[in-house]
Amino acid sequence: MPTIPIIRTVAELRAVLAERRRAGERIGFVPTMGALHAGHGSLVTAARREHQCVVASIFVNPLQFGPNEDLASYPRTPERDLALLAEHGCALLFMPEVAEMYSAGSVTRLHQTGLTDVLCGRSRPGHFDGVLTVVLKLLLQVQPDTAFFGRKDFQQALVIRRMVRDLDVPVSIATCPIHREADGLAMSSRNRYLSAEERAVAPELFAALRGVNDGFLRGERRAATLVELGRVALARGSRWGIDYLEVCDPETLEERGAEARAGDLVAVAAKLGPARLIDNLLLGENVPA
Ligand code: PAJ
Repeated sequence: MPTIPIIRTVAELRAVLAERRRAGERIGFVPTMGALHAGHGSLVTAARREHQCVVASIFVNPLQFGPNEDLASYPRTPERDLALLAEHGCALLFMPEVAEMYSAGSVTRLHQTGLTDVLCGRSRPGHFDGVLTVVLKLLLQVQPDTAFFGRKDFQQALVIRRMVRDLDVPVSIATCPIHREADGLAMSSRNRYLSAEERAVAPELFAALRGVNDGFLRGERRAATLVELGRVALARGSRWGIDYLEVCDPETLEERGAEARAGDLVAVAAKLGPARLIDNLLLGENVPA
């Protein structure tokens, strides 16, 4: 089985990457929280295209979990993760302990307003502060040419782009397409929380988004009506606890009050059993049936 080096400290990471940079290699970076799946793999594949050295990180970041969230139960599958990364051509895995990332007494946190106040930010207070703090630290540690994020976490990618712009962080941010299971369910580490029965129901989330998109393609432009199409679809099975389902501006994330436009973001977050799942699409997008 192919394998790759695991680096546990920032000092060692810096030393190894300095060597790679001296050799003229471009560095691509894929930050993750582990429990990897083909969606993560697709980010590594994308990074490989233009970077000789692809670094992945696995760090379950306590700062981005709320007090009643799944930090303790977040799936950890390091051996499988290592094999998946190696298979996709990743060169190095950075896997620090919590004490390495947040030394005792670490009190500096990043905070962004605006984009973080809506959608997931509204229901997960402090979540994006935690994401931004760890992502900025990782970017400073790795100093990649490009960092790769998935569009599954559309808001996260947008918030990170904004941070990089606001703070002049010298990195390009790439956003990659959503990788889905054959039945349409967006791949997610949290899909592991689903029972067999819940897993069978889970594709309804993307089906609801497709329903909204179909409505748009049939000519419906009223945002409230489009949202209602999605809500009704999810209410049918009565298994879903909807957190939000919105049509919004894909750049500002402001909710469309009246008319929806092509390219608008339709974003959904809903609970199914123990799992909080998210998904999204852009209106007018050609989505698989
Ligand atoms: P995690 O949920 O492990 O996701 C790591 C990266 O993989 C994110 O950029 C996410 O958008 C992407 N990803 C997840 N599922 C995907 C899918 N089905 N298709 C394409 N990309 C997908 O997101 C995080 O970790 C953390 O918040 C992190 C950025 C690492 C900061 O802690």
